[in-house]
Amino acid sequence: MEAPHSPAVPATTLKIAVNSPEQMGELGRRLAKVLRPGDLVMLTGELGAGKTTLTRGLGEGLGVRGAVTSPTFVIARVHPPLGDGPALVHVDAYRLGGGLDEMEDLDLDVSLPDSVVVVEWGDGKVEDLSDDRLHLLIHRAVGDTADEGREVTVRGIGARWQDADLSVLAV
Ligand SMILES: Nc1ncnc2c1ncn2[C@@H]1O[C@H](COP(=O)(O)OP(=O)(O)OP(=O)(O)O)[C@@H](O)[C@H]1O
Ligand SMILES: [Mg+2]
Repeated sequence: MEAPHSPAVPATTLKIAVNSPEQMGELGRRLAKVLRPGDLVMLTGELGAGKTTLTRGLGEGLGVRGAVTSPTFVIARVHPPLGDGPALVHVDAYRLGGGLDEMEDLDLDVSLPDSVVVVEWGDGKVEDLSDDRLHLLIHRAVGDTADEGREVTVRGIGARWQDADLSVLAV
């Protein structure tokens, strides 16, 4: 008999050492191979941790239009697919005070179930978007801001990630 499944229970955890911005981009490109339309990715980490750098690699891996940059003046930016893959929706939730309602009010001209949604600074704000989410926590390996070392903790949450093989992400 299958154990009852709670979507709040983390399914998989993986720690990856990332030693340079280039490796962070590579991690993003590998992530593109794992993601499917409708997936939600949450990126957590301090200012300059590398969230946008990772998202840029993800955009390259997915093959989407437009440069992935820090969405400083917009809360969300839609990158349409160049081929037949999913669009990338890149959200900076930093100024998204009201959480999910506000996100829906953005009236993005895109279908979220057909897109890969990546949210920076989304903790406590966008969890309701999906029971399933991949959470990437980026830590500076040492305190020195000049150091390029990062440790990325990947946590798959919900049924979607229960049996997912995340080992392809290890760089
Ligand atoms: N291992 C690394 N991975 C990613 N970025 C790194 C790494 N080492 C150094 N960097 C540098 O750190 C900066 C990361 O900037 P980025 O915009 O990706 O961070 P962020 O987490 O999105 O910040 P913010 O919270 O301001 O949005 C870049 O200048 C990048 O070159
Ligand atoms: Mg950023």
